[in-house]
Amino acid sequence: MRDVAIIGIGINKWGELWNKSLRDIYVEAALNAIDDAKIDRIDSMYVGSMSPGIFIGQEHLSSLLSDYLGQGSIPTTRVESACASGALAIRQGFIDVASGMSDVVLVGGVEKMSDVDSSKATDILATALDSEWEAFQGISFAGIYALICRAHMEKYATTRNQLSQVAVKNHQNGLLNPHAQFQMKLTVEQVNNSSLVADPLRLLDCSPITDGAAAVVMCSMDVAKKISRTSSTGTPNRPIIKLSGSGHATDTIALHSRHDLTTFNSTTLAAQQAYKMSSLTPKDIHFAEVHDCFTISEIIACESLGFFERGIGALATERGDTSLNGKLPINPSGGLKSKGNPLGATGVAQVYEVVTQLRAEAGSRQIKNARRALTQNMGGSGGSSLVHIWEVL
Ligand code: COA
Repeated sequence: MRDVAIIGIGINKWGELWNKSLRDIYVEAALNAIDDAKIDRIDSMYVGSMSPGIFIGQEHLSSLLSDYLGQGSIPTTRVESACASGALAIRQGFIDVASGMSDVVLVGGVEKMSDVDSSKATDILATALDSEWEAFQGISFAGIYALICRAHMEKYATTRNQLSQVAVKNHQNGLLNPHAQFQMKLTVEQVNNSSLVADPLRLLDCSPITDGAAAVVMCSMDVAKKISRTSSTGTPNRPIIKLSGSGHATDTIALHSRHDLTTFNSTTLAAQQAYKMSSLTPKDIHFAEVHDCFTISEIIACESLGFFERGIGALATERGDTSLNGKLPINPSGGLKSKGNPLGATGVAQVYEVVTQLRAEAGSRQIKNARRALTQNMGGSGGSSLVHIWEVL
């Protein structure tokens, strides 16, 4: 396998973008990534998107977006794995370059969710549940995560305040991210008193409904070295970011088939693969972007990744370990909670943040001396998980 690097990243301001179409926001993010990479050709493209057919009535997305991007007849593939569609697209780009099939690949993610009302969006999201055993019975994703949360609270004495501290921290980080959907400061009291969605989860425990896109350019290490060195001196003009580990695993979608509701088994398995490929351990990671679709999911993701022992994730948040200046900053971008969660774009935007941080270009939310990072993106309630590890060369 060849080594693979990221040489370009692009994103747009996320939110309810009623004056823009899906193709507008995708092209904006993709052109930003292509400009950032300073390249003039792409060999292939992968697009992560969960449900464009139901949200906006558009399938056959990969060909449409390649055309609107002006990339003519390059091979393009849409990738779907619910909210993990973006990271699965990243993995396909990685495999494409690592195998030698392509030298330069554009990987994007996009979702346009706000053209339907909230109840329709809830129904569309529920198509990623087990349709017979879960969605048909009327449960939503908030309901599923409420069951998971209740089980974690019972088993580990996780408290209401600890859940709220996840939201407070991520909104604090999101305040420093100009692309975030919700740039607002929260207090524990505000989260505790926000309206109940699915007991014990409240409005401010939830990631929102979001329109957004993100894109990255991946290439072989040879191409990355050529592009990032000035011709006269041979000095790199920008750090090279290497994708050093990739893991992908699945689990039952239906919660009732799982042995334990308080852990994400697919995340643990994907992380084991990524740690092995990169020859790194959880202790070597300097910061991470994880899938906080609800406050409880950040806590369980951190435990499942091996950052904290089982049952300690909530306490670690309370102690400040996961804050921007803590021992292991989690979600410096603001996470799904504050930055937004446009499903297919989410996993790609995690990579945007990691590369920005590793290049030391994150401004007021910059983590000092960050050289190794991890991204964890999850489909549904853990029916699929992808974990990637990133390093500055
Ligand atoms: N975080 C912070 N603020 C939020 C928010 C969120 N997640 N969702 C909505 N808001 C704000 C809105 O901006 C609005 O504020 P305003 O009154 O000042 O304009 C207010 O709360 C009400 O917004 P509205 O859109 O009417 O909320 P809603 O009740 O229709 O939807 C949720 C709220 C939580 C139900 C919806 O965001 C949701 O379903 N989230 C989960 C999405 C999900 O399941 N994703 C997949 C995970 S696996």
